[in-house]
Amino acid sequence: MWKLFAACGLLLVILLPVRAADDAQALFNAKCSPCHGVSGDGKGHAGLKIKPADLRSDAVQKLTDEELFKTIAYGVGHKEYPHGFIERGLNAEQISGLVVYLRKFARPTKKAGK
Ligand code: HEC
Repeated sequence: MWKLFAACGLLLVILLPVRAADDAQALFNAKCSPCHGVSGDGKGHAGLKIKPADLRSDAVQKLTDEELFKTIAYGVGHKEYPHGFIERGLNAEQISGLVVYLRKFARPTKKAGK
């Protein structure tokens, strides 16, 4: 019987991180891509009228995780579109997931220079 428990536990450990990553992607595509584009390039359809940041750019990628978190959660320093997603119904865990997800947009060349 304990083997069954162990197997279930193992399955959970494997599946949970995958689910979190999927959630962040789904969340980004639903809440952010209309402006920032699915690839983070800032070319979503709603972004045509305003200029969303290119999330792949060094300007964004050089921000610390904490700065990115605050940007998304509270929209500090934004002129065109104050983000404030904490008030729009996202929780801290979801926003942390988005920060991790945004790191995937970094241009590969950036790391080569390091
Ligand atoms: C209505 C359009 C819109 C939506 C939706 C949107 N953004 Fe933005 N975003 C912008 C604009 C415009 C800027 C440029 C800064 C400004 O507002 O002046 C920006 C800037 C940013 C920046 C760069 C901030 C900085 O300080 O340089 C990050 C990171 C970001 N957005 C993340 C997100 C994430 C994550 C989501 C989804 C949860 C999201 N945005 C949803 C329009 C949008």
